[in-house]
Amino acid sequence: MRRAACPGSFDPVTNGHIDIIARASTLFDEVVVAVGVNPSKSRLFSAQERIEMLTEACGSYPGVSIDSFDGLLTDFCRDHDVRAIVKGLRAVSDFDYELQMAQMNSSLSGVETVFVPTSPEYSFLASSLVKEVATYGGDVSGLVPDLVLTRLTRRLSERAAERASERASERPPPGA
Ligand code: PNS
Repeated sequence: MRRAACPGSFDPVTNGHIDIIARASTLFDEVVVAVGVNPSKSRLFSAQERIEMLTEACGSYPGVSIDSFDGLLTDFCRDHDVRAIVKGLRAVSDFDYELQMAQMNSSLSGVETVFVPTSPEYSFLASSLVKEVATYGGDVSGLVPDLVLTRLTRRLSERAAERASERASERPPPGA
């Protein structure tokens, strides 16, 4: 049985991620989507929320499961009997960093990395860009699953309300 991991932050999962996960699931018997939980990084969604969105979006694909990890990806791979890491490559600009990580992971544990070219319609897609565009009111439907769009819209409006209330509390009272 060949098991692969699709690691990432998935903050939030995009249609580009789902494309890679779906295609990885045709190459391996099992695919574990590994959500990186790095508490030192600030995220829009908690690890639990990111796992929930991934589970709703692709948890029912045959052979696909969702898990999280904190620490080295190679430790996760060892603990889950993962033989290969699958990464999507959007463009040449992704390659240098991805190659460096693949070589580091290989030197740490011998785990192989398989690069899958991103489908052309998703080659510009990144979670960070989706969040930026959505923050300024741009239309990101079609770039993320509907369930992510709903949560993203809600979270961004909560954040905007929090910022507005912080600004209001910083303003001096009228007549001061
Ligand atoms: O979605 P991202 O931000 O590209 O995901 C990056 C991730 C989580 C896959 C990467 O940062 C990672 O593997 N982190 C785990 C820590 C680790 O193993 N670092 C050494 C990598 S060579």
